[in-house]
Amino acid sequence: MDLGLNGRLALVTGASKGIGLACAERLAEEGCRLHLVARSADRLKAESERLARQSGSNVSYSSLDLGDASSDSTLFKVVPDPDIVVNNAGAIPSGDLDNVDEASWRHAWDLKVFGYLNLCRIYLDAMRKRRRGVLINVIGAGGERPRPSYIAGAGGNAALMAVTRALGSNSLKDGVRVVGINPGAIVTERLTTMMKQRASQELGDPERWRELLDADHPPGRPEHIADMVAFLASDRSANTTGTIITIDGGSCAR
Ligand SMILES: NC(=O)c1ccc[n+]([C@@H]2O[C@H](COP(=O)([O-])OP(=O)(O)OC[C@H]3O[C@@H](n4cnc5c(N)ncnc54)[C@H](OP(=O)(O)O)[C@@H]3O)[C@@H](O)[C@H]2O)c1
Repeated sequence: MDLGLNGRLALVTGASKGIGLACAERLAEEGCRLHLVARSADRLKAESERLARQSGSNVSYSSLDLGDASSDSTLFKVVPDPDIVVNNAGAIPSGDLDNVDEASWRHAWDLKVFGYLNLCRIYLDAMRKRRRGVLINVIGAGGERPRPSYIAGAGGNAALMAVTRALGSNSLKDGVRVVGINPGAIVTERLTTMMKQRASQELGDPERWRELLDADHPPGRPEHIADMVAFLASDRSANTTGTIITIDGGSCAR
């Protein structure tokens, strides 16, 4: 299926590894020009050079801490007119109300909640003026199936789900779409770090983390999210807005 994305400019946050990097790879395969954002300049440089070499697309990057609100205007100056924005950079810690202290909670929400909101505000305005654009928020199934053991993620993701639905509900009149994706467990560095913490607490050995996986329902791969991002970014999804797609192997329905 030709998604018709050739030549479009996609901004992807958290694109140095994991889900964000997979999204960048998939969009590059579709002929998108790319701007990648994360903190680690070394990784961004290496990945942007690799993607440009493999796809022949133009790939640039910004090394920024998106948890710092001043980064948003810096980014907008560098990339004022993307066709596609993928909000993906996030790192909310697991833990229940008693062991996620206020400072950690605020730090995590500065990136994942306020970081997403600020980029939505800046880029929605620019897209409305051009009457063209798609904002895709990679959120998390923890907002849909809240658990006390991931309390900061449950609250932050639920807020982003509501904001995505609200913004997308009337955006099409301005030619713009706002959609969300709720990944379930996806094998990335983030997942293995969290599983190792759990294995350390529950089994006394972080290296035994695979024993905590459900053999009948293994975690998904970053490509599962990236393929949906590409489809949602395309005009094939022209009437899809104000909604969240859950990609979790059925976990939320069990
Ligand atoms: N993996 C899962 O099971 C899962 C499930 C549900 C939702 N999600 C969501 O999906 C998104 C991606 O997760 P992932 O598993 O791919 O995570 P990951 O492998 O840890 O990658 C996170 C990306 O975000 C960047 N990043 C982290 N802090 C940043 C900051 N302050 N400023 C700018 N960039 C920052 C990281 O690069 P630097 O460290 O270089 O900055 C990296 O590129 C997150 O929002 C996560 O909550 C993941």
